[in-house]
Amino acid sequence: MAVAVRVEGLEKRYATDEGAVNAVRGVSFEVEDGEFFTLLGPSGCGKSTTLRCIAGLEKADGGEIAIGDMVVVSQSGAQVPAHQRPIGMVFQSYAIWPHMDVFDNVAFPISRGKGKLPKAEVRERVLEALSLVRLDGLERRPAPQLSGGQQQRLALARALVRQPKALLLDEPLSNLDAKLRDDMRVELKTLTERLNITTLFVTHDQLEALTLSDKIAVMRDGLIVQLGGPKDIYDDPNSRFTAEFIGTTNLLEGTVASRDGDVMRVETPQGTLVCAALDSLGPGDRAAIAVRPANIGVSAEPPNADNVLEGSIETVVFLGDSHDCRVDVGGELIRAFVHASRSVERGDKVYLAMSAADCRLLPPEAAFVEREDGGGASLRLGAGASPAVA
Ligand SMILES: Nc1ncnc2c1ncn2[C@@H]1O[C@H](COP(=O)(O)OP(=O)(O)OP(=O)(O)O)[C@@H](O)[C@H]1O
Ligand SMILES: [Mg+2]
Repeated sequence: MAVAVRVEGLEKRYATDEGAVNAVRGVSFEVEDGEFFTLLGPSGCGKSTTLRCIAGLEKADGGEIAIGDMVVVSQSGAQVPAHQRPIGMVFQSYAIWPHMDVFDNVAFPISRGKGKLPKAEVRERVLEALSLVRLDGLERRPAPQLSGGQQQRLALARALVRQPKALLLDEPLSNLDAKLRDDMRVELKTLTERLNITTLFVTHDQLEALTLSDKIAVMRDGLIVQLGGPKDIYDDPNSRFTAEFIGTTNLLEGTVASRDGDVMRVETPQGTLVCAALDSLGPGDRAAIAVRPANIGVSAEPPNADNVLEGSIETVVFLGDSHDCRVDVGGELIRAFVHASRSVERGDKVYLAMSAADCRLLPPEAAFVEREDGGGASLRLGAGASPAVA
């Protein structure tokens, strides 16, 4: 598979009144041709900065970026100007020209400056792009008279009109209300699949990332902390940060008691749990166990399972197809789902059953601490250290 976008050791610092901000600290990844690749992470982790460096809207301080076989940022510091990079970009705000109609908005990138095309070709390309996003017939509508979803599609059409090698999307759905966001998410997925266009998508919404992406890079504090397919990241988070950021998870704190081949026994205040061993941990080490609510069985009678905990139901929320329960186990509330056909009530004594395979052992959280020279954060591993994200 050919690589459509390659980012290697990208660095970006901003000078601010409070000192330097290390927004991106050595980020590397490759996006294959036709792939939908997502940068996912909390606010301020460097997603937009990474995208803007690829687009040429920010000057990288270090590293290399290639789009197809065009090196747009080289190790020597040479940079290709933004308008010459073969990309189309959609911003969170859409950045639509309010004084122009739909046609002129889409025509803009190919009807002036160095990328200018002959008039007939501009028309052909604009109509084609509008048809791709199902805005045909609205060419002469003033842009501000479009609905939110239509403006979003207009921004997409404008990004596509240059027939870019890659589409860069910075939280393009976040301005839409919930229902429209769901619809547009499906539309975006359909469109990018149909065009088979390489897409680099930025979001802090884990659901968007999980549903749209072929691959996800989880970012934290200017670094990629995990990279993989949606299922890998969901099922196999490599840190508490990822486990908590993506999906709903229960985290139980404990200490490794022993290892027996591929499994470890971990003592927690809720009871001893058996889970798949982690090579980086040994007896005596602090650890956390992540288990998804959907992977916990709830029963009134003691079940036959690798791990069984006893508790009482503290709260029940009816979700239509299930009851979302929080079960008090030794003072810790563990979330689990019970099928709607069963009746559960607050105060019920229940058993929670978890297979060892679904109990994911995680190393103690890496604490992100500011370096003393103020030169940004560094990674420090420490038992029981609290996560302090700058
Ligand atoms: N122009 C700027 N000048 C100074 N600091 C900046 C600038 N742009 C971004 N930053 C800082 O760089 C860091 C990364 O910002 P960035 O916009 O890339 O985050 P993000 O992951 O896109 O967050 P969000 O989800 O809120 O959009 C933040 O600490 C931010 O405050
Ligand atoms: Mg951003």
